Amino acid sequence: MQINDDWPGYCVELFNYPEHYQGDLECVYIPHGVIMNRIECLARDIIEDIGHDDMMVLCVLKGGYKFCCDLVESIKAQSRSTNRSLTTRVEFIRFKSYMNDQSTEDLQIIGPEDLSVLKGKDKVEILISSQAIVDTGKTMRALLQHVNSFQPKLVKVAGLLVKRLPQRAATLPDYVGFVIPNRFVVGYALDYNEYFRDLNHICVISEMGKQKYKM
Ligand code: HPA
Ligand code: MG
Repeated sequence: MQINDDWPGYCVELFNYPEHYQGDLECVYIPHGVIMNRIECLARDIIEDIGHDDMMVLCVLKGGYKFCCDLVESIKAQSRSTNRSLTTRVEFIRFKSYMNDQSTEDLQIIGPEDLSVLKGKDKVEILISSQAIVDTGKTMRALLQHVNSFQPKLVKVAGLLVKRLPQRAATLPDYVGFVIPNRFVVGYALDYNEYFRDLNHICVISEMGKQKYKM
């Protein structure tokens, strides 16, 4: 689903959102209900493609936690309603690279997440890496390299947001929620210096918000 460059977003005052962010938002870019409906579509596509096996979902923290949770719930609900048997398991991994709204050079894998479950006789069939945002594709490349070193049988990537950049990421996720303009967005677990994760809608920050939470 494409969101055009000239999409102004919705007026913030039409929505319910945490009072402590009053004045900090320029617009509601993607309302929570729209996100949820789009995730149902991704879950349906994932089940149609690979829904007959055990699935491991690798959640990319912190920004991907809501997307991962809602995606897994939707996969479970839809496979139940179509009487498919499917087990889901969730593991977590964390990268850190953003300061304010700028990407920093080095990308660290944080946390001793043990992915050896991907190896050996109890090897899971399918790995879906769920990432909230793909812009340069740097995180996705590092993640795939890391994950592939554990030799899973099949890896698919689901990304909620893909940014339209002049030099577009060479590899795109297999399942994409929204292709958006190159704007910094927050909410639905995406942060600006750890703020705004508790906002359900995906929003654009106002100048006041940027100044208020600058590091
Ligand atoms: N918002 C929050 N975190 C991000 C973004 C964004 O637009 N792009 C990359 N990390
Ligand atoms: Mg961040």
